[in-house]
Amino acid sequence: ARKIIIDTDPGQDDAVGILLALACPDQIDLLGITTVAGNVPLELTTRNARTTCELAGRPDIPLHAGCDRPLQRPLRTAEYIHGGTGLDGHDLPAPTMPVQEAHAVDFLIDTLRREEPGTVTLCTMGMLTNIATAFTRAPDIVPRVAGIVAMGGAYFEVGNYTPAAEFNIYNDPEAAEIVLQAGRPVTLVPLDVTHKALATPERLAALRAAGTRVCDVVADWIGFFERHDMEKYGSPGGPLHDPLVIAWLLWPELFSGREINVEIETGSELTLGMTVADWWRVTDRPANALFLGDLDADAFYARLTEKLATL
Ligand code: BDR
Ligand code: CA
Repeated sequence: ARKIIIDTDPGQDDAVGILLALACPDQIDLLGITTVAGNVPLELTTRNARTTCELAGRPDIPLHAGCDRPLQRPLRTAEYIHGGTGLDGHDLPAPTMPVQEAHAVDFLIDTLRREEPGTVTLCTMGMLTNIATAFTRAPDIVPRVAGIVAMGGAYFEVGNYTPAAEFNIYNDPEAAEIVLQAGRPVTLVPLDVTHKALATPERLAALRAAGTRVCDVVADWIGFFERHDMEKYGSPGGPLHDPLVIAWLLWPELFSGREINVEIETGSELTLGMTVADWWRVTDRPANALFLGDLDADAFYARLTEKLATL
């Protein structure tokens, strides 16, 4: 099984990403979860990550709280999408599983130093502050990272938080730049691909038809979370972003993308956090990321439902 750490700011879609990873123990060995502020403040993202592990019957997962704000900027949250708790849509019991004492950044550093070099993949579903802080504080861990798979950015689909920028990158563009320039293999899962993973009524009905508690909760979460985007985009369902990070590891054959150069705008106020993706290779800047662009969404939802039904 592939060893991963999930760095996350749950968020309903983050929670579904965690559940998908936990539903695939033969392919994915989840070494731990690190939380970061984002959709809601850190205290709530940490609580939501615990709730999610408990829903999956996995209170044993090492869970570490991380950075409560971006490297240099004020935190923007997104209660207007995720609700006041960050995980509105289905009430679950208050979590009791422990939060580990070590800060997420220390856990990342220690784990990467301990594990065989090139065996641990970092899967990020929020702003990249924890990862960038770990890379800056302990540069020796960088070459030990197998790769980074990050939900973030946009090119043809441009922005969802500003006209130019996607939320995770906008929140901490300096952190995103550090990660992209680290020289390790980065796969970006941008809005270009997540906006193809729409939770249509048929796909939600299939999830409910699975008839399990987890599938029911997930359908309630997605139903809450997507309302905002459905209204906004006029699409037949809202996009399910973060689970695609895990889906890429499990089923790369469902995706296509390009190895290209991606730079992050950190200066301009107007386009702050924009992922300037050289999709047409019009510069000679070297490729630094695999930028995903397309997805077989029917197959993704079918497999997601099948896997979640096993929890
Ligand atoms: C990203 O922003 C958050 O609201 C979601 O959880 C996802 O990670 C999409 O832009
Ligand atoms: Ca997220």
